[in-house]
Amino acid sequence: MGTGDSTMGPGIILVLMTLLYSGAAYLKSEAYFNETAELPCQFLNSQNLSLNELVIFWQDQKKLVLYEFFLGKENLNNVDPKYMHRTSFDQSNWTLRLHRAQIKDKGIYQCIIHHKSPTGLVSIHQKDSELSLFANFTEPEIVQMSNVTGNSGINLTCSSEQGYPKATKMYFLLKFENSTELEYDGVIQTSQDNGTELYNISISSYVPYPDGMSNVTIFCVLKMKAMKSREWEFLSKPFYRVPSHPLPVAHQPSWITAASLITGIFLCGMTYFLWKKKKKQRAVLSNKETTRMEKEKNEGIEERVKIHVPESNDKEVQYT
Ligand SMILES: *[C@@H]1O[C@H](CO)[C@@H](O)[C@H](O)[C@H]1NC(C)=O
Ligand SMILES: *[C@@H]1O[C@H](CO)[C@@H](O)[C@H](O)[C@H]1NC(C)=O
Ligand SMILES: *[C@@H]1O[C@H](CO)[C@@H](O)[C@H](O)[C@H]1NC(C)=O
Ligand SMILES: *[C@@H]1O[C@H](CO)[C@@H](O)[C@H](O)[C@H]1NC(C)=O
Ligand SMILES: *[C@@H]1O[C@H](CO)[C@@H](O)[C@H](O)[C@H]1NC(C)=O
Ligand SMILES: *[C@@H]1O[C@H](CO)[C@@H](O)[C@H](O)[C@H]1NC(C)=O
Ligand SMILES: *[C@@H]1O[C@H](CO)[C@@H](O)[C@H](O)[C@H]1NC(C)=O
Ligand SMILES: *[C@@H]1O[C@H](CO)[C@@H](O)[C@H](O)[C@H]1NC(C)=O
Ligand SMILES: *[C@@H]1O[C@H](CO)[C@@H](O)[C@H](O)[C@H]1NC(C)=O
Ligand SMILES: *[C@@H]1O[C@H](CO)[C@@H](O)[C@H](O)[C@H]1NC(C)=O
Repeated sequence: MGTGDSTMGPGIILVLMTLLYSGAAYLKSEAYFNETAELPCQFLNSQNLSLNELVIFWQDQKKLVLYEFFLGKENLNNVDPKYMHRTSFDQSNWTLRLHRAQIKDKGIYQCIIHHKSPTGLVSIHQKDSELSLFANFTEPEIVQMSNVTGNSGINLTCSSEQGYPKATKMYFLLKFENSTELEYDGVIQTSQDNGTELYNISISSYVPYPDGMSNVTIFCVLKMKAMKSREWEFLSKPFYRVPSHPLPVAHQPSWITAASLITGIFLCGMTYFLWKKKKKQRAVLSNKETTRMEKEKNEGIEERVKIHVPESNDKEVQYT
């Protein structure tokens, strides 16, 4: 019996392989939105035929030609405008690259190879592949819907954009200090972009706090189908409920910090300039005052600039 099994096994596998690779099943190809897709041809070229005696082309479901390599050189005459300048042929592995893939590009493609013989062109190979497209949703973002800091619950909305395919699930996840987790569903709204066919999604929900909770962290979770039949989960930044403290404020953009610094330096120079001038006019500005102003570099700079700049202009006018 053991020997019978071992001879049968490979036989069955061979039959299955033949079924899978005889064209009965499509080759699967996957790409990200706006990136490069690969449409394989899987031509083995066992006879070592030269490209000069072959006609290779790819066409879509509507029989529109994406690319043609005719007896050794590219032939753009039959290429549909929609695919013009969007493809490149990788001769090393008989693969066509489709650049800047759009959601609209998903579907079935055929690679066809003809051989030039004395009697004319003879079809020697054909391979169908199915292209699927994906786009990661943006990081989900939680927004508090009102400033009412009720101690029994909170109204939250979470949104995420520009994904494909549609999200499979979206919910709020509450994590407690004792590591207990709770899920909250809500009203989900989806919209699709007319042009790109990408989806936006948002969820709104009243999230109640269980009694006696002092510290709870809220996340927004989005799930979607991803490449290779996997499922991906995208998580928002944590949203902390701290009733007695103000909500976390977003960090100042670095350019504001830089601007503050430059203004500060400008201010120092200006102070010195004014100080010298006032000294001239025998209206001495005390050192104490200068130090105080330097200390306040990071606070109330805008106001000080507004006050000092016109003053200096006035003085300049006096000079001229
Ligand atoms: C597609 O990618 C190009 C750069 O390769 C970029 O300029 C363009 O904005 C992208 N388009 C979309 C819709 O993301
Ligand atoms: C295939 O043909 C090319 C010339 O057309 C030759 O240089 C190469 O060695 C051949 N390869 C094989 C594996 O026969
Ligand atoms: C074809 O070759 C290129 C590199 O030359 C590689 O990036 C790509 O993955 C290959 N595609 C297939 C379908 O083998
Ligand atoms: C999409 O998200 C996954 C998981 O976070 C990541 O591995 C992948 O690189 C992302 N792809 C793109 C094109 O952003
Ligand atoms: C919450 O308060 C901030 C200022 O403290 C204000 O900018 C914001 O619009 C308020 N949000 C709502 C939903 O009332
Ligand atoms: C949440 O929204 C509901 C309905 O819009 C409203 O009745 C309720 O007062 C809100 N609660 C809080 C804490 O904002
Ligand atoms: C709440 O708990 C998180 C971890 O679960 C912790 O990082 C955070 O500091 C806590 N906040 C307060 C105000 O206790
Ligand atoms: C954690 O805290 C929640 C909220 O108070 C409570 O419902 C849950 O039973 C607690 N879990 C454990 C394991 O203590
Ligand atoms: C999706 O969200 C983006 C960014 O907020 C917005 O520009 C776009 O109009 C939205 N699209 C749809 C179909 O709602
Ligand atoms: C999509 O856009 C086209 C033209 O750009 C317009 O005719 C059509 O009404 C739009 N459809 C939707 C659902 O907005």
